[in-house]
Amino acid sequence: MTPTARPQSTMHFLSTETLSKSPLNDLIECAQRFKNGADHSKTLTDKSVALVFFNPSLRTRASMQVGIYELGGNAVVLEPGGTSWTLEHRVGAVMDSDKTEHVAEFVRVLGRYCVAIGVRTFAKLQDWETERTDPILNAFAKYSDVPIINLESAMHHPCQALADMMTIREKLGEGRKKVLLTWAWHPKPLPMAVPNSFALAAAQMGHDLLIAHPAGYELDTTLLAEIEKQATSTGGTVNVENDVEKAFDGAEVVYAKSWGSKNFYGASEKDIAEREQYRGKWMVDAGRMARTNSAIFMHCLPVRRNVIVTDDVIDSPNSVVIDEAENRLHVQKAIMKELIH
Ligand code: CP
Repeated sequence: MTPTARPQSTMHFLSTETLSKSPLNDLIECAQRFKNGADHSKTLTDKSVALVFFNPSLRTRASMQVGIYELGGNAVVLEPGGTSWTLEHRVGAVMDSDKTEHVAEFVRVLGRYCVAIGVRTFAKLQDWETERTDPILNAFAKYSDVPIINLESAMHHPCQALADMMTIREKLGEGRKKVLLTWAWHPKPLPMAVPNSFALAAAQMGHDLLIAHPAGYELDTTLLAEIEKQATSTGGTVNVENDVEKAFDGAEVVYAKSWGSKNFYGASEKDIAEREQYRGKWMVDAGRMARTNSAIFMHCLPVRRNVIVTDDVIDSPNSVVIDEAENRLHVQKAIMKELIH
């Protein structure tokens, strides 16, 4: 594994972009050993890991806390602006407004207590050109002398993507699969981290990836180029489809997720108006699943039932969403075992 490196040789886990198929497979195999009880490593004995949540969470928070406990360690959970001070991340900021502490001090202080820092910091969907650079996550990485683990940033959710790849392999076996990542209607725009990281990891694993979304809901151009480049190197393929009726044919994996249009960052009301035409049309239902090759149904959760996916699909034997959520625990233990020494 070669996570994003910073000077002084601190290794971070910010996205899967710098990893190839082999280290991704190594992490999945390590996670599988944790899952089947073959690995009882206590990597974190007498150590603490900080978990910093700017945003709500069920799976990430619970699975990280449990994972740290199972590795023998202690989790320190902080919520900036709630259980810890409000945080500034901009270089040179004059902190005369609502921000009390700078990330520069925050992470270096935490680094004296903790051997790693996990951070969740969603996109605010206000300024695409700024948010696509993941400024808060990268400020954590810049100042930290201990590994930073991305628990979902504006652009990436690598722990989720790794659990997704583990779940596909667990359910369908090794090798190239026909994978559909489909946009779904949702009443409001959501961040793009999950589809970004899923598409990137699927390409890195060499799957045949079809990304379906209405026109105007394209992924980031630079990231899409990287996804295509990674697919070329692994023997996978990447295609985009704007017609939901054509997207499901022959798929072995259906991964549903809603996201906001980068064209409407800072103007959510315009996105909401634009997407209204897709209400009830971009949803995963039994009719569409019947067109697949007995596909498994995946979603990162939380999911809005009968909006993103119908009850009969998410409750069907082909739905793997609970196993997918369980796998978050195992892959995160594998990541921490690899990063923390
Ligand atoms: N999938 C996921 O990250 O879930 P939470 O937002 O509940 O952590």
